[in-house]
Amino acid sequence: MSGQELCEHLGVSRTAVWKNIRQLQEEGYEIQAVKNKGYRLLAAPDVVLQEEVHSQLHTEWIGHRICYREEVDSTNTLAKQLAEEGAGAGTLVLAEKQSMGKGRRGRSWVNPPGTNIAMTLLLRPDIPPEKASMLTLVMGLAVARGCNQLLGVEAKIKWPNDVILSGKKICGILTEMSAQVDYINYLVIGTGINVNLEEIPEEIRDKATSLYLETGVRVSRGKLIAAVLEAFEPCYEQFLRTQDLSGMLAEYNRLLVNCGRPVTVLDPGGAYEGVSRGINSQGELLVVREDQTETAVYAGEVSVRGIYGYV
Ligand code: BTN
Repeated sequence: MSGQELCEHLGVSRTAVWKNIRQLQEEGYEIQAVKNKGYRLLAAPDVVLQEEVHSQLHTEWIGHRICYREEVDSTNTLAKQLAEEGAGAGTLVLAEKQSMGKGRRGRSWVNPPGTNIAMTLLLRPDIPPEKASMLTLVMGLAVARGCNQLLGVEAKIKWPNDVILSGKKICGILTEMSAQVDYINYLVIGTGINVNLEEIPEEIRDKATSLYLETGVRVSRGKLIAAVLEAFEPCYEQFLRTQDLSGMLAEYNRLLVNCGRPVTVLDPGGAYEGVSRGINSQGELLVVREDQTETAVYAGEVSVRGIYGYV
């Protein structure tokens, strides 16, 4: 596009166009400038800058406000701070690097800069607090759907909060909330996706992978974030209407890797085995034990493993 066209389109001076092109080049955009011809965008860096996400995002309201940081301790912690300061529902926190990324059950979540997605979505749902854990499932569904639609892969869900590809984890979700007994002040859904990671630390190599390692293709993180949020928004709105997962049950159970498989339920009261029949509309995993009794397992209480390993 010629410099003149850019000036007219944006209503700014030629110097302003030139300064902004320089700024973009410094941020890693490859822009060719040819005298008397104009500028040509040759390549955009894979960054999770808010502009890069905004330009791909077609949601009604989710992610319209993005808070991007080069480095934070944890995007969940920052999202909670913003919530305390009054940030609105739909605010998305993105970081290139987390120094103290949090996993479930007090574990840490390592996120090498420049390769993965670390994002947290702030919501203020008007639902009873005991229904909040279902939102982890909604995000799991959105991540699986987003990956499958964008990349043509077959990502699956490992109930309640992992997304897997080829039997290994590519995504973990950590939902936290501030609530009174009958009222949620706010809730944050933190999602970590292994996107372009080239090497998985040895100690977790048997159970974790990345989209790049499975497909051999580098994935634009901005596009993937947009695909996940676009999948999440209609599911979330449906969830708010029915206050359960009835509207997405069929898709969820189709994507559920545990479905129809033997599982070990690690219940604090004692582990037991059974065959999983999928989830019900409350998000509980239905497990049929050897004596044919069926237990509805609530996500908050337990972990589930395949009897042969992680899945
Ligand atoms: C797990 O599988 O244990 C959950 C991992 C959740 C990691 C994400 S990365 C973005 C957000 N910020 C955090 O500190 N944790 C979550």
